[in-house]
Amino acid sequence: MTLKIVDGMENKKLCLIMVTEDERDKCFLTQKLTRYMGWLAIRCKVFKDRDIQGIEIKFDDLVTNVCEWFKEEHTTVAILDLENIKLSDGPKYDSIFRRDHIDTLFVEYIGDEANQDTLSTPLESITSNKELTDPLSYVVLRKESKDILVNKVENYLQTRIIFYVLNINMENKSIWLSRHGESVFNLEEKIGGDSSLSPRGQKYAQLLPDLITKEIGESPLIVWTSTLRRTQETAKYLPYKKLAWKALDELDAGVCDGMTYKEIEEEYPEDFKARDDDKYQYRYRGGESYADVVNRIEPVIMELERQENVLIITHQAVLRCIYAYFMNVPQGESPWMTIPLHTLIKLTPTTDGVKVTRIKTDIPAVSTYKEKGSSDITSNPSNLSSKYANILEEVSTIQKI
Ligand code: G3H
Repeated sequence: MTLKIVDGMENKKLCLIMVTEDERDKCFLTQKLTRYMGWLAIRCKVFKDRDIQGIEIKFDDLVTNVCEWFKEEHTTVAILDLENIKLSDGPKYDSIFRRDHIDTLFVEYIGDEANQDTLSTPLESITSNKELTDPLSYVVLRKESKDILVNKVENYLQTRIIFYVLNINMENKSIWLSRHGESVFNLEEKIGGDSSLSPRGQKYAQLLPDLITKEIGESPLIVWTSTLRRTQETAKYLPYKKLAWKALDELDAGVCDGMTYKEIEEEYPEDFKARDDDKYQYRYRGGESYADVVNRIEPVIMELERQENVLIITHQAVLRCIYAYFMNVPQGESPWMTIPLHTLIKLTPTTDGVKVTRIKTDIPAVSTYKEKGSSDITSNPSNLSSKYANILEEVSTIQKI
């Protein structure tokens, strides 16, 4: 597994303690936070106070397990998913972990009506607790009103986690992903550039409104594209509000922009090999790596979490990064996933995972997939991404035109 710790977080150890009334909320938030941390290469693990058989793990054993895990390399965040924990248990946890230089952050997610005293009495007593040398760090989020109460949030990692949780929209929604239609550069086997759609790519653009309307009906939708011509031409006929993000532009191939893989192999053989050896971290001369793309699209992910239904029309490398976020695909594998042209992918987050539906059109398109160790374009790539699509189910339908 390729792991690179986000700069400035090497020495931070944080125990995130989830406090919810509803078990499903806890499950959903824990699952999302774990995925988000993994995607940002922040090493994170969930600890429960019950084993697989449901037998309670003693408090002292749980603390020992967490502290032992934190002794491993690059461990940064432990998420405590405990039964019946209350914010008033805070001082106990805080003082124990503090001894091992582990910060704690309580994340409480509660309804507006229920547990009304949580914000007043227990917190008052917690913050005035004489045993506490320092006040607790916590965030209380009210489900319906979205009111929040934040106390003693003191570093970048905690701020980032809170910002993420604040942005999560728990409503039912779907996210549709599509590459742009086949482009002129795709036909010429060239990477990058800013070419227009091929005639088949234009056909896909014309089909897209029907495809989407069939899916979404009357529900609202917003369409996000990159700033490049091929994505905007693909979105051209869609009757929805559109937004072009620079952050959704294709991975910048630097000096190799506009070249074919064969030309890159001939002109920059060492780079060609280095990229195959570690495609996630390899940064093109004067360009970007997949790791760079993940960092650049983080604001897009944040906004995506806040929004309702969104259709994103962007590029192969960017879609691999977005797909990896939702499907928890390891860094080493995500740059090798196949995301074919002229295929719409629907992701529906649920409390149990993400449901994936693929709608493959019958408009032919070239493959742009290069296998590891070769500069040839593979016409029938092994579909690695399907391995990660089976969290719930995968459906493929052919759309006749
Ligand atoms: O550079 C253009 C491609 O969309 C990215 O594909 O990372 O498999 O070379 P690649």
